[in-house]
Amino acid sequence: MARHLLTGAELTRDEVAALVERALEMKAAPLAARPLEGRSVALIFQKPSTRTRVSFEAGIFELGGHALVLRPDEMQLSRGESPRDTALVLSRHVAAIGIRTGPDELVEELARWASVPVINMLTARHHPCQALADLVTLREAFGRLEGLKLAYVGDGNNVARSLAILGGLAGVEVAIASPPGYQLEPTAGATLVEDPAEAVRGANAVYTDVWVSMGDEATAEQRRRDLAAYRVDDALLDLAAPGAIALHDLPAHPGEEITAEVMYGERQRIWDQAENRRHAQKALLELLVS
Ligand code: CP
Ligand code: NVA
Repeated sequence: MARHLLTGAELTRDEVAALVERALEMKAAPLAARPLEGRSVALIFQKPSTRTRVSFEAGIFELGGHALVLRPDEMQLSRGESPRDTALVLSRHVAAIGIRTGPDELVEELARWASVPVINMLTARHHPCQALADLVTLREAFGRLEGLKLAYVGDGNNVARSLAILGGLAGVEVAIASPPGYQLEPTAGATLVEDPAEAVRGANAVYTDVWVSMGDEATAEQRRRDLAAYRVDDALLDLAAPGAIALHDLPAHPGEEITAEVMYGERQRIWDQAENRRHAQKALLELLVS
């Protein structure tokens, strides 16, 4: 049975810890492991991407493999071929399938029928590859994960949910501040509050994401109004623990959820985050295809 990564909850605590360490080893020696030598990985993008596409494609190359990037207009999936048939066919050719799409149900259906690992590269509800990479960035910045506190400020969205799931597995305390109507469901394991200052108190990292995710465009203006008090700026960062870092998964809208001063300032680790996508996903691919 192939192992999949749909939400992050498929991983054990030990596996998450090992993946983070392995990603840092791979960062230090990018070409040392070749588990994909002579093999291909299909990457289906039904939504735009800069970081996920480039980090997966470059990472697969570094692992000795070949990335097949598939856009919706190139696939029969967009003409009504079923996820079941797509999964059955792709499984005959590739070592793993990554997919970025809206509905989580589509990814679940692919995983149900694929005989190779299926990796969620972002859905409406989850972004586990992002959160795995963020754990690598935290481990790099602080030398440990266990006992750290991460405050997420803003929309209780896919990124917030994945941070709650994977942060919990890594022993990171996750506090999420969102306004009413934008809160994550309480099942995800994080502390949910309304006040950003309360979430940020004692935090080692202050994290935010866009107010308007892909698919939320119709309510963009309402969201900007509702989330206006949830901007990460220097004043909010000052309320966190000494030495706290600022994180953002990107793409960002400087002036909305984060100020340009924070984004390009001394306390951010945002660009390390973007780089660590490649290292974390390489470690994940190695685990899943081995
Ligand atoms: N953070 C992230 O997933 O970025 P992309 O949408 O550019 O892939
Ligand atoms: N929450 C954002 C993340 C983008 C990487 C979105 O889903 O659009």
